[in-house]
Amino acid sequence: MKVTVVGAGAVGASCAEYIAIKNFADEVVLVDIKEGYAEGKAMDLMQCASLNGFDTKITGATNNYAATAGSDVAVITSGIPRKPGMTREELIGINAGIVKTVSSSILEHSPNAIIIVVSNPMDTMTCLVHKSTNIPKNRIIGMGGALDSARFKYRLSEALGCPASDVDGMVIGGHSDTGMVPLIEKATRNSVNVSEFLDAARMEEIVQATKVGGATLTGLLGTSAWYAPGAAVSEIVKAIALDSQKMIPCSALLEGEYDLSGLCIGVPCIIGKNGIERIVEVSLSDAEKAHMQSSAEGVSKTNALLN
Ligand code: LAC
Repeated sequence: MKVTVVGAGAVGASCAEYIAIKNFADEVVLVDIKEGYAEGKAMDLMQCASLNGFDTKITGATNNYAATAGSDVAVITSGIPRKPGMTREELIGINAGIVKTVSSSILEHSPNAIIIVVSNPMDTMTCLVHKSTNIPKNRIIGMGGALDSARFKYRLSEALGCPASDVDGMVIGGHSDTGMVPLIEKATRNSVNVSEFLDAARMEEIVQATKVGGATLTGLLGTSAWYAPGAAVSEIVKAIALDSQKMIPCSALLEGEYDLSGLCIGVPCIIGKNGIERIVEVSLSDAEKAHMQSSAEGVSKTNALLN
């Protein structure tokens, strides 16, 4: 499998690193507009190969999409990240133009590529790729829910005092501070509902901490996070590469699922060799349904800014 990662900044490089370390891809091509930057990151990462034991070949290219030709998957991380105090929605003006240009350059050289969108505001950028490319909907995946669910599991494990591998939980809805819908009522520790271990107030704290997970890190780091976003992308790419049919919450184009249409928002997706193989409609409580509805209204408002 050949994977292109556009944007060799912290998130893009982290994607390339985790994909390589997991050792399922033949080749990763990093692309950046800054002269020599992708080449430098690729070289640095390749010097980890003997240390970290991977065979994936990583190369870099300065704005040269010919080097990406024949990619099976392309990840778009390019654009500006948010600074402390900014919302993801504020990035739309600059990032929309970049995402549009990048997706058309990718498809020019890799017409069959599955595109994974990371750039923010992620749900709206995923929608923009649908609108501007016309490729089948299964081949456009927004990364947010995979990341938000990992952050949810981190918060759950912290509250439960147990390893993250002991907990299971999903975040659906929009990838924004107000839009995320952590499905706390369904979260479990080894199949036991977390409400058996945590009181309602603690559960609400987990929900709130999850929703501002990205903003908390932006405040601490002075820029947007990169390790968990990179790892989240690598899990989606791996599910495609191995055709594993794994259920991962991702931003997908909805056409009636969850009573929503014409927007991309986080929902549980089965991921395999064709990208989004299927959207899973889990039954939601009335409270979860109401959150999903208001989340969709928020995403639609941001989408309207595209025009
Ligand atoms: C975050 C960015 C990637 O949540 O949206 O860290």
